[in-house]
Amino acid sequence: MIGVFDSGLGGLTTLKSFLKELPDYDYVYLGDNARAPYGGKTHDVIYGHVCEALRFLFLQNCELVVLACNSASAEALKKIQQEFVPNNFPDKKVLGVIVPVAEGVEEFVTRKKMDANNIRVGVIGTRATIESKVFEKELAKRSFSGEILTRACPLLVPLVEENWINRPETKTILKKYLWPLKVNNINILVLACTHYPILYNEIKHAIGRKVFVLNPPDIVARKLRSYLERHQEIAKKLSKNKKRLFFTTDNIESFSRFISNFLYLKNPQVKKVKLA
Ligand code: DGL
Repeated sequence: MIGVFDSGLGGLTTLKSFLKELPDYDYVYLGDNARAPYGGKTHDVIYGHVCEALRFLFLQNCELVVLACNSASAEALKKIQQEFVPNNFPDKKVLGVIVPVAEGVEEFVTRKKMDANNIRVGVIGTRATIESKVFEKELAKRSFSGEILTRACPLLVPLVEENWINRPETKTILKKYLWPLKVNNINILVLACTHYPILYNEIKHAIGRKVFVLNPPDIVARKLRSYLERHQEIAKKLSKNKKRLFFTTDNIESFSRFISNFLYLKNPQVKKVKLA
């Protein structure tokens, strides 16, 4: 099984891309809806929650877990890979979304033959992701010497959760958030939060036609495929019966409804779980 973890329902954007790119595998999705949002929480709190989620997913026979949540990847992944997994589940693997997206940005710049020294990349995400400066660090490790402009957009997650996608208020807030990036002439915009791809069209409209808006779930799915091709020892352990299981720490009804609509799945198998 491949585990996909998110603080709530936003990670379904990542799962959707996985189901397109790698449809045969079995997937277990866990959304910690009861404790979401993670984006305003501290490092220690996020780390603790992620450890609990991973224990649960490993008990569900996940050999590999992807932290779809940017805030969790930014704040917890390093320590998870260096301490939690080797000390508790040495045969299991945990991957995040920041490194694949940073690689995706680099590849995009190369593919489009853009000048990597003069490029301006905008990154929007939660406070946790933006304040961790992970994107600056990961892009700096690569052949990227352009400028990185970041902006925390804490109001966007609740707007998506409330399904205020097409509301004028959302358009106004997006315009305000994106304005400093727009006037600084960014070339690429990275949506570093699971929920933002749901606002893809609205964000594209607000930032303007000159800016390439990257969709991280598709990048992460392509990167997962290439990871599994390179790591046959892990790929071999993953079952392929097209099973999809869903767990939430909060209300099953609204979660199931969202899954059915968003993933076009009839009667998804959803269970409630208490993490500890
Ligand atoms: N999943 C989170 C992320 O990608 C957004 C929602 C939250 O703040 O928990 O950063």
